[in-house]
Amino acid sequence: MATIRGRLTFGYAITLAASVAALTLALYLERRGSAIRELDRRLELESDVAVQLLQQSYALRGQVVRRSAPAIESARDTVRVERRSLEPWVAAYLEGGPDYLVVADTAGLELYLTGVTRTLSDASLSGLLGLTASGVGDTVGSLPARGPEGPIRFRVRRLPRDGSGVGAVVTAAPTSDVPFGPAQLLRSIAVVSPMILLGSLALGYWQAGRGLRPLKQMTEELEAITDGRSLHRRLPVAGAARDEVSRLGVTVNGMLARLEQSFASLRRFTADASHELKTPLMVFRAGVERALTHPGTPPESLEALDETLEQINQMSELVDGLLTLARADEGRAPLALEQHDVAALVTEAAETAEILGAETGVAVSVERPTEPVILEVDPSRIRQLLLNLVTNAVKYTPAGGRVRLGLEDRGWEVAITVADTGVGVAAGDLPHIFDRFWRADVARSRTGDRAGAGLGLAITKWIAEAHGGAITVQSRPNRGTTFIVTLPRGREPAPGAGDPPTA
Ligand SMILES: Nc1ncnc2c1ncn2[C@@H]1O[C@H](COP(=O)(O)OP(=O)(O)OP(=O)(O)O)[C@@H](O)[C@H]1O
Ligand SMILES: [Mg+2]
Repeated sequence: MATIRGRLTFGYAITLAASVAALTLALYLERRGSAIRELDRRLELESDVAVQLLQQSYALRGQVVRRSAPAIESARDTVRVERRSLEPWVAAYLEGGPDYLVVADTAGLELYLTGVTRTLSDASLSGLLGLTASGVGDTVGSLPARGPEGPIRFRVRRLPRDGSGVGAVVTAAPTSDVPFGPAQLLRSIAVVSPMILLGSLALGYWQAGRGLRPLKQMTEELEAITDGRSLHRRLPVAGAARDEVSRLGVTVNGMLARLEQSFASLRRFTADASHELKTPLMVFRAGVERALTHPGTPPESLEALDETLEQINQMSELVDGLLTLARADEGRAPLALEQHDVAALVTEAAETAEILGAETGVAVSVERPTEPVILEVDPSRIRQLLLNLVTNAVKYTPAGGRVRLGLEDRGWEVAITVADTGVGVAAGDLPHIFDRFWRADVARSRTGDRAGAGLGLAITKWIAEAHGGAITVQSRPNRGTTFIVTLPRGREPAPGAGDPPTA
């Protein structure tokens, strides 16, 4: 059950099924109890009538029992031909009374059975007769099902020993004879409850969907606020924020406001810190350069000073990169746009690459249209972009490799390609290549000839996007890497990328 809606509906269905089952059970037990109470009352009434009839008949005639062979010779009776029985005229009266009636003598032996009683199965009948023989007093109870008529409810009534010879009267009735029996109730509930369950399931599903709709909308809106640049957006909160979802909206909005504030102060801090570092670094560099050129500097210090200068240069680059990105994030890195020949910039980058490549044994080639390719760009930023790409290409290509620069004018856009035959990037690393401070194999490349901070490509990506363009990369380990930058002709700058400076 993946969705809350599904879980709610499922839970609702389970609860409802349990409630219906509990209700059915309660109804069943209550109905059975009252049906049995009703039956017991009827049996009591019937036994009263039979007892009165027997007693009055005895009082009137002085005899109700006779010793003779019974009038009806059934298989059972012929065995006991010597048994006593009720006088036929008394039996005739009783025949018009209760359906199931057993009259027994004082020894518990059968005196009389109504015709209907004889239709009971032998097992049930002997059960009833057994009651009169047991000698217990007045009792009410049930005989478990022994035949097709099912369980039988009975009432035993003992008669006072007045000399009539009648000992007990048993009235009985199968519980299946009760007009609205519990079984019938169960059947009705079995038919109705699936319909109730299905109906309420559909209703529950609809209700859950309705209740969760605001949550769904909120999720969609939150999904749109994915990056740091959209943190100024807020969720619409309906009404006076009384329901749970609205309160959630207010809370999330509060959180977004705090996040926006933290992001802003983080950017501010990075920008301010890198800005503050620039001046001391310049002073350092000037000082070290002066010491390097001073004739009084002892020769043994020159190497250390040289190393210091290199570190200072690297640090300056890092600080510059940080400042650029922090300003870009704040929307305070404006583009100085002008109509410029991008092909000339590519040629320039190729020349730099040739110089760099000559040192490390990497061959550089360039393919570009002979005529100028004019585009509205910030030349210094595009120069920075190309420089980042070609220094990477040369840096990550071993001696004997090749670096190829390409420029293609596609009309609606211009595509710049920087391809190398270098070490490449593993497929799993490619998604991170434009992340800030991300570098493959950090331990090996933080120092040495492949030193760098890992900001170059992040800046490159920002420059491409600030121009309304994009950058893509393809790479195979040990086969080479290809970066393609596309710059559109009709420029649509990325949000906040080319805003005018505010400070
Ligand atoms: N042409 C390339 N071939 C192979 N790997 C590359 C190439 N360009 C970039 N990478 C990988 O991507 C990482 C990030 O590159 P990026 O230019 O951002 O940082 P850097 O070159 O290490 O440092 P910086 O450019 O800040 O001095 C590099 O460390 C390198 O692992
Ligand atoms: Mg780099």
